[in-house]
Amino acid sequence: VAPDAAWRDEVRGLAKERDAVLLAHNYQLPEIQDIADHTGDSLALSRIAAASDAATIVFCGVHFMAETAKILAPEKTVLIPDERAGCSLADSIDAAQLRAWKAEHPGAVVVSYVNTTAEVKAETDICCTSSNAVDVVRSIPADREVLFLPDQFLGAHVKRETGRDNLHIWAGECHVHAGINGPQLAERAAANPDADLFIHPECGCATSALYLAGEGIVPSEQVKILSTGDMVTQARATKAKSVLVATEIGMLHQLRRAAPEIEFNAVNDRASCRYMKMITPAALLRSLRENKDEVHVAAETAARARGAVQRMIEIGK
Ligand code: 13P
Ligand code: SF4
Repeated sequence: VAPDAAWRDEVRGLAKERDAVLLAHNYQLPEIQDIADHTGDSLALSRIAAASDAATIVFCGVHFMAETAKILAPEKTVLIPDERAGCSLADSIDAAQLRAWKAEHPGAVVVSYVNTTAEVKAETDICCTSSNAVDVVRSIPADREVLFLPDQFLGAHVKRETGRDNLHIWAGECHVHAGINGPQLAERAAANPDADLFIHPECGCATSALYLAGEGIVPSEQVKILSTGDMVTQARATKAKSVLVATEIGMLHQLRRAAPEIEFNAVNDRASCRYMKMITPAALLRSLRENKDEVHVAAETAARARGAVQRMIEIGK
């Protein structure tokens, strides 16, 4: 299936017929981002899903995102164009592992990144995304222990920002972001001394970026640790002519759209998420034609997870 005018007409026509809203994450293929009603980061898309009055949500992203939409809007039909679109980070902890961890820290507040399964969210007190993780942890009384999961690099970022000693971090990682490493970043930054560095906090190189800033190798005002949505906002605000981007490469499309006059380059141009890229033009068309793959979350699990997800979309509004 070529993403041509006939494809666009059919997708838009079927979306209208089904009263469907198309949501796309910033890491989706450019043609999927361009046809969606809304493109954004995990937090923005969750908020849109919760507020939408469409009968169907077609989530062009990965499975945990579609599940989160279903938890927030249980009465809607939620479709993902390919249900095999998983997430290595969400796979790094399951509900049984979390229950065992909680048993070791009775009374601790559990903060789970939105990149988790519905079953893990059901064991969680507050969910967060990369754009509000620091605010979520700050909202917890300082004397309470916190279990932060599953991303170790986002956890390290939150710990640095909040200065909390009683924050325990799960050792999970996203294989795409962990692969963007410090030496690569240092090399690219040295070759582009005037470039801003936009770094996603899931990256293995976030600590190196702060080291470069701390040592004066890169001026600290050029180093920004940002969620994907905040990268778009920052692209519109920066005076830099060139930006090095440390995240999944799908992000470059929205950045170039937001600020066409700036040159955006990936720190690692092989940082592509194979799960995000399963949502092809053909898969989207099939999804709308066949009303598939429908996402289900068991009612009891959804009920237990809903409070944690709702707290996430409220904080930092
Ligand atoms: P955000 O869009 O919330 O920054 O998340 C990044 C991510 O890795 C989603 O899979
Ligand atoms: Fe998961 Fe990483 Fe892919 Fe995001 S980029 S969906 S965190 S595997």
